[in-house]
Amino acid sequence: MRAARLAATMVAVAIGFAVSAAPTRADDIEAKVQLCAACHGESGIPNDPKTVPVIWGQQQSYLVKQLHDYRSGDRENPVMSAIAKGLAQEDLRKIAAYFAAKPWPAGHPSAAPASAPNGVAQCQPCHQPKFDGGMPAPRLAGLSYEYLVASMRAFATDERTNNLDMPKFMRALTDSERDAIARYLAAF
Ligand code: HEC
Ligand code: HEC
Repeated sequence: MRAARLAATMVAVAIGFAVSAAPTRADDIEAKVQLCAACHGESGIPNDPKTVPVIWGQQQSYLVKQLHDYRSGDRENPVMSAIAKGLAQEDLRKIAAYFAAKPWPAGHPSAAPASAPNGVAQCQPCHQPKFDGGMPAPRLAGLSYEYLVASMRAFATDERTNNLDMPKFMRALTDSERDAIARYLAAF
């Protein structure tokens, strides 16, 4: 497990170097985002949706903030931190705009459960009635159950601290409430 993690970090660092070595012309975003597809998918469906979130069609302001946070260490992840550090500061907004303009990948044949689970209504003022996000909250609908439940747990346990409200909301829910909400949102 540890070796796999180290290998992933090394790949990410190598990719990071490749990115910073690339020319920094403003019209070159298309070339710079090529490497993102290795994990986030050629057509927007991540290679491993359980651990890699969808970024196609995600809210632009949220994408910019996450790239900033990975660079600064406010959000910690060995793979994404290395990659974000390899990006030029002035490219972050353009890269976010590039992915935000793509369509959210279709899929998810399963219908959302008829009844909304306990606690999910309180997410809607920020994440919007259809959970498709809006400034500054990200889209949640259609992220994988595994990614959602892991991010919710990371906020609850203070592993992810790049927002002041989310930890509070996530701590107020039990494990099984978070589980039910994640299942609901993944199928939404
Ligand atoms: C080696 C695989 C890999 C590559 C290449 C990669 N990512 Fe990621 N990305 C991940 C993983 C894994 C996560 C989830 C990390 C976490 O849990 O914090 C992630 C998360 C993100 C997030 C946060 C999304 C959210 O919903 O919170 C953004 C934004 C992002 N990546 C952008 C990019 C961009 C832009 C590129 C290309 C410059 C890129 N990634 C390349 C694996 C990768
Ligand atoms: C007060 C507004 C607010 C409320 C209420 C709220 N959120 Fe959030 N949520 C946010 C913001 C803002 C972010 C982005 C944090 C960051 O910068 O990383 C976020 C991030 C998230 C993420 C991370 C998504 C990703 O791609 O990594 C998940 C999952 C999430 N919220 C789930 C929920 C759920 C479930 C509820 C309801 C139980 C909820 N939130 C209620 C504002 C809110």
